[in-house]
Amino acid sequence: MTTVDDAVAALRASNLIFLPTETVYGLGARACDSAAVAKVFAAKGRPQFNPLIVHVASAALAEHIAHFDDRARVLASAFWPGPLTLVLPIKDARLVCDLARAGLDSVALRVPAHPVALEILNGFGEGVVAPSANRSGRPSPTRLSDAVEETGAFVAASIDGGDCQIGLESTVVSLRDDARYLRAGAVTRADIEALIGPLKGDDHDGHRSPGRLAVHYAPDAKVEINVVKPDEGCAYLAFGPTDYAGPIFQLSASRNTSEAAANLFTYLRKADRLKPRKICVAPIPSEGLGEAINDRLKRAAGYVG
Ligand code: TXA
Ligand code: MG
Repeated sequence: MTTVDDAVAALRASNLIFLPTETVYGLGARACDSAAVAKVFAAKGRPQFNPLIVHVASAALAEHIAHFDDRARVLASAFWPGPLTLVLPIKDARLVCDLARAGLDSVALRVPAHPVALEILNGFGEGVVAPSANRSGRPSPTRLSDAVEETGAFVAASIDGGDCQIGLESTVVSLRDDARYLRAGAVTRADIEALIGPLKGDDHDGHRSPGRLAVHYAPDAKVEINVVKPDEGCAYLAFGPTDYAGPIFQLSASRNTSEAAANLFTYLRKADRLKPRKICVAPIPSEGLGEAINDRLKRAAGYVG
């Protein structure tokens, strides 16, 4: 029998767990650890790196991670613990790695209402990223046996929390600037508007494309992909040995796509800070997380809207 202590130990060891919540079963990992978060993407077989929701035991811990304004405090005290996720400006970036935030300066947070989730989160004492525990493109699991069928091979601890009461992912509201209703869920738009006034949708925003949130860190520098020999003045994101003499950010010396994924957003940012002529990126094979890395890089290079 897996216990809460087993789940906490697995998180501390940077392994994956099932996080039973009132919405759906999550695939949980230590939020501050990019290698652990890369395992989540690998297990889901995600074709893209979307920013993930960080689950915490309390609003007090959430306030260490993100900046709360009055609206955020009103919503947190009305709906937490519960099926509402708030997107807020990041306060302490060490607590949630770049990969979990897709390199953004904001973070999505929620306190789940399920007693088992709360026990695990209380025992762990840190944030846990947890997207739904299905393989990418498949329905979200709402009971343990479904979660096991989807991604059971990748988890070190799976606690049975029974059937999920809600069975649908949490509502997502962004309070980064204007309040926006980003994902519908059990907490309705009307529930929220009754407390903080009118919400905008996810349209009319340059960061977002219709029907799909394209929220990601976008470098200022031009990005060129599949580059073997960068020109002088470029910053180079290498994948394995290189003899380039300029600034190099080694995504993975051993050519491991999970390690490269864990480093991707942090190195894009570091490279961008040098204000290089261009950021050149080595060819990345599409095995493992390579496909997701290439999807992200194509967007950064402007090939995909
Ligand atoms: O019910 C749920 O929320 C489940 C259970 C396991 O808690 N979790 C879940 O997590 O659905 P995830 O990580 O798959 O949800 C991510 C959602 C996406 O819609 C994503 O775009 C949004 O949250 N999101 C995360 N960070 C964001 C950010 N910084 N800005 C805008 N949207 C963000
Ligand atoms: Mg999902």
